[in-house]
Amino acid sequence: MYPNWIIFFSLMLSGTVFAPFFRSSGMGRRQARLVLVLWLFLMLCPEAMISGTHSVNNSVLGGMFWTSTKEETSTKKSDLEESVVGNDNNNNGEIEFNGGFSSLDGMLQWAIGYSDPAKLKEAAQEVQRLSPDELKERQLEIKELMEKMKMPSDAELMQIAVADLNNSLLSLEDRQHALQELFILVETIDNANDLNKVGGLPVVIRELDNSNAEIRSTSAWIIGKASQNNPVVQKQIIELGALKKLMVMVKSRSAEEAAKALYALSALIRGNLDGQELFYAEGGELMLQDIMRNSSIDIRLCRKSVSLLADLVEFQLANANKEELPLFSNPFFLKTVVNLMGSTDLDLQEKALMAIKSLLQLRTTEALVLKDFCGLDGVLERMREHFQQLTSEEYQKDFMRDLESLRGEVKAIFHSKLEKGKTCAKGHED
Ligand SMILES: *[C@@H]1O[C@H](CO)[C@@H](O)[C@H](O)[C@H]1NC(C)=O
Ligand SMILES: *[C@@H]1O[C@H](CO)[C@@H](O)[C@H](O)[C@H]1NC(C)=O
Repeated sequence: MYPNWIIFFSLMLSGTVFAPFFRSSGMGRRQARLVLVLWLFLMLCPEAMISGTHSVNNSVLGGMFWTSTKEETSTKKSDLEESVVGNDNNNNGEIEFNGGFSSLDGMLQWAIGYSDPAKLKEAAQEVQRLSPDELKERQLEIKELMEKMKMPSDAELMQIAVADLNNSLLSLEDRQHALQELFILVETIDNANDLNKVGGLPVVIRELDNSNAEIRSTSAWIIGKASQNNPVVQKQIIELGALKKLMVMVKSRSAEEAAKALYALSALIRGNLDGQELFYAEGGELMLQDIMRNSSIDIRLCRKSVSLLADLVEFQLANANKEELPLFSNPFFLKTVVNLMGSTDLDLQEKALMAIKSLLQLRTTEALVLKDFCGLDGVLERMREHFQQLTSEEYQKDFMRDLESLRGEVKAIFHSKLEKGKTCAKGHED
């Protein structure tokens, strides 16, 4: 049999072998990476270990690839390993190394460390000598080999990551890696739904209390990602009490942590009545106000606050039977938002415009307050001039046109509300 590491190099060196194969197998980016790392490992192992596919299956897969933690602490995980690799756990010590790899990256590093430069060179030369037919044949061989190896499902990968995260014996770095894997996994809605099934939500939420700010931030990020546009996961996370923790994190001195927490909070309560009631019960609207009127706050945090405000008011408009929040028609609160429209940051200006557009439509906001107390007319006019100047720049012409159109809408709603106010007042006088 040909030495296996040649296959690997045909994979690595020849785009013609590598790219079409992964494309035709319909594998995702992450799975492709897994396969690559696995192959890297197989190919760079001492020759004796890889005398044939079958022993590779038993020893490498059964013995170590899925041994993702250094300590075998949970029986659940052993079961998982068995289900992934079959029951052939005859790891008879062919592979010598200290403990498992806590992450794929760790394994990659290890494999690279064990590679032999002379062999790599030889392999590279050999691959270059292959004819197209030989390459094609190799491609088929790889495919066959890969079909023999069972690919783990995303749920299984999540289970492994959750177990790593839950393992307090692992280093901070390893758990950070586990969080990063989870972050990638929960991007799809099915995986987000499965996160609770594998017991992942309580574990991730617990990490919001971790003493390490980076762990806390990544955990918040995962919570945000998983609950985005997903009412089921939103409910699960709210019931597990994450909202209060996230609100504390928004006040963090680390701008990064505060921004991730506010992102998660927004995703958690967007379009979610229970979540929003809890948010208000905790003084969430005051929290947003504090951020919006703090001129030394990180701009990302400010943009996110205004954006969340626009969402919340939009939700109130869509649920008109609910009582409106008094703060939203408070003159000082409105002035804070109008002031943000005067920012030089276009993104913030756009979000503030959207917030004002919604706020204007609440029954309890008064157009006269916006006119006389907040000076909305003047702000809108300065905005028009600002946009006009920027429209001359070709690259942002479309964006400026959209902004100007939004500004026009706000102005129209504002003036129509002013007119209505006038006729109402007249009606009272008569
Ligand atoms: C996390 O660890 C605890 C024990 O430390 C265990 O009771 C729990 O089941 C574990 N959770 C998961 C999802 O592995
Ligand atoms: C405004 O933000 C800065 C930076 O986050 C913070 O240090 C300061 O305490 C905030 N001021 C108020 C009044 O909240």
